Amino acid sequence: MSNLQILDHPLIQNKLTHLRDISTNNHNFRLLLEELTSLMVYEITRSYPVREVTVRTPLEETTGKVLNVPVVLVPILRAGTGMLGAVLNLLPTAKVGHIGLYRDPQDLQPVQYYSKLPPQLSHAQIILVDPMLATGRSAIVAVDVIKRNSGRNIQFLCLVASPEGVEAFSRVHPDVPIYSAALDRQIDDHGYILPGLGDAGDRVFGT
Ligand code: URA
Repeated sequence: MSNLQILDHPLIQNKLTHLRDISTNNHNFRLLLEELTSLMVYEITRSYPVREVTVRTPLEETTGKVLNVPVVLVPILRAGTGMLGAVLNLLPTAKVGHIGLYRDPQDLQPVQYYSKLPPQLSHAQIILVDPMLATGRSAIVAVDVIKRNSGRNIQFLCLVASPEGVEAFSRVHPDVPIYSAALDRQIDDHGYILPGLGDAGDRVFGT
């Protein structure tokens, strides 16, 4: 389907299954979310540019490679922050922007209440993170905000996507690849993904 790529590595799928499990408590949910995010970041950064540098080992000088692109991470508040630490562990020099959106419970439309992005987004590789791509509306608005601030190279990283969300997102932002651990069956009348994993923010923060 469109610009969706499912990351089906066995370790990713194994952790996702435990994450879905209703008996996984908040503490373990957070740990699993971080481990899963690390594995997914490893996969989606595969084609990042590198440049050669000289490095002195304890024995001699040699050539190594370092990342050659500034990275900006943008978690969608609040559930996206549960993925942030894991990405920063792997990309410690990344800058971080935040976009605050909540879903109006009546019409499920995203309401933006906060946005703070680093400058000079145009040359950066941007990773937008949010665990759930449900209706797709929050992710669409978040990418709108990033593009209005000159962001161009955007990857959207989630854990679970719905067909409705992928369809809506891809129609508006066909240039932005979606990386997910799963494509689930559908969304329900309240905008929850089925079978999904419940409310990701509630499960991360114990609310
Ligand atoms: N947000 C969540 O946290 N879970 C869903 O199933 C859908 C949106």
